[in-house]
Amino acid sequence: MTTSPATIRPATGKLGILTPGLGAVATTFIAGVESIRRGRSKPIGSLTQMATIRLGKRTDKRTPLIREFVPLAGLEDIVFGAWDPIPDDAYTSAKTAGVLEDRDLEPLREFLSSIRPMKAVFDQHYVTRIHGTHVKQGKTKRDLAEQLRQDLRDFKQANGCDRLVVVWCGSTEIYIEPSPVHATLAAFERAMDENHPDIAPSMLYAWAAIMEGVPYNNGAPNLAVDTPALQELALRHGVPISGKDFKTGQTWMKTVIAPALKARMLGLEGWYSTNILGNRDGEVLDDPASFKTKEASKLSVLHTILQPETYPDLYEGFSHVVRINYYPPRGDNKEGWDNIDIVGWMGYPMQIKVNFLCRDSILAAPIVLDLALFSDLASRAGMKGIQEWLSFYYKSPMAAAGLSPEHDLFIQQTKLKNTLRHLMGEEQITHLGLEYYP
Ligand SMILES: NC(=O)c1ccc[n+]([C@@H]2O[C@H](COP(=O)([O-])OP(=O)(O)OC[C@H]3O[C@@H](n4cnc5c(N)ncnc54)[C@H](O)[C@@H]3O)[C@@H](O)[C@H]2O)c1
Repeated sequence: MTTSPATIRPATGKLGILTPGLGAVATTFIAGVESIRRGRSKPIGSLTQMATIRLGKRTDKRTPLIREFVPLAGLEDIVFGAWDPIPDDAYTSAKTAGVLEDRDLEPLREFLSSIRPMKAVFDQHYVTRIHGTHVKQGKTKRDLAEQLRQDLRDFKQANGCDRLVVVWCGSTEIYIEPSPVHATLAAFERAMDENHPDIAPSMLYAWAAIMEGVPYNNGAPNLAVDTPALQELALRHGVPISGKDFKTGQTWMKTVIAPALKARMLGLEGWYSTNILGNRDGEVLDDPASFKTKEASKLSVLHTILQPETYPDLYEGFSHVVRINYYPPRGDNKEGWDNIDIVGWMGYPMQIKVNFLCRDSILAAPIVLDLALFSDLASRAGMKGIQEWLSFYYKSPMAAAGLSPEHDLFIQQTKLKNTLRHLMGEEQITHLGLEYYP
């Protein structure tokens, strides 16, 4: 199926990428982009920079780079901004995070030191382990959100930006159930005026971004923009939104292995996942209330992929346990173990063990870049509301009401690439392949 190309505004001028949160992920992202711009690193892990896309028939041999196929902002046109309740500049914060070595950080020292966070909208009630001093004051949550809007306008003007995008790289907040205050925009805005506790800071950033016509991408499992109220606002203002929770280490593996089990109709008895992690994120997640938010996000994956309702003989009642243990010596170099009890022919048990020694922020940084560039593309192409094609990057992808999210990494990848083909008026690739055989 071919569609006509969408009208896409060109990516001219500067793109401001703003992150609430200037911690491990955000500083690794910023340092990486600058290092790539200086020719010191390659953009490993980024689809927008390294991946190709097949167009037309296999025999056509057309596989351009994605960045040559769709009009994306160039890395040289990016400017960075952030908010954080800790006033450290990006260099100091990167040193504290301990992800990058001095050999990579020192050449960027001047550049990173010049990136200073704006005062955050922060309340320790929502992230108990962070002691923020660099914080905005305001009578109501709406006042605070209005200050964020002003920050966006000021940043855009001061940096001569043509467009902005926001990618949440802030901490995981306490678990908040969707409630009536999130159900409609009117209720949400009333709740902002009344300082309702169910309105968390991440929601105020989302509201402010959307009000300013700025795409909002949610890298944490916080409810944030995943509410009917803010989806209504995004549609009204024609703004793309995406979330939740970057899919980096263990869950990324889960969304590869679980579809493989299901594809072969192998059963699952149980899946036990544990992690040790010693960075600030690990410390925040050591608080049970923040962990609950993360746990809900990590747990949602298997059920949706395996569909026990459809395959009760294979998947009914499987046990799924996820643990994160804060272990300071490990720093950002997380270690994840998975023990997977599977069931084969005639009910015989087997086990798969995965031991993943990963670097959280090294996996997350290229995701921040891709989400920023793709959501900017979506905005220029007139796409609004939930961007399901960006599910590829998330542990708990947002989906329209009544629709279960797609978790399978390879379906997500097909969705992403087909969306790009669709935008450019190219044929969808179905992999049917009959056309090659007489
Ligand atoms: N690294 C990964 O692989 C990965 C994967 C999925 C999700 N995440 C999520 O990404 C987020 C960032 O991770 P990180 O390792 O950089 O954590 P981090 O603790 O190093 O950085 C988070 C920063 O956010 C700041 N912050 C907290 N509340 C804020 C607010 N209201 N406004 C602005 N800033 C605020 C904190 O002060 C901190 O500096 C976390 O929520 C984490 O759960 C990370």
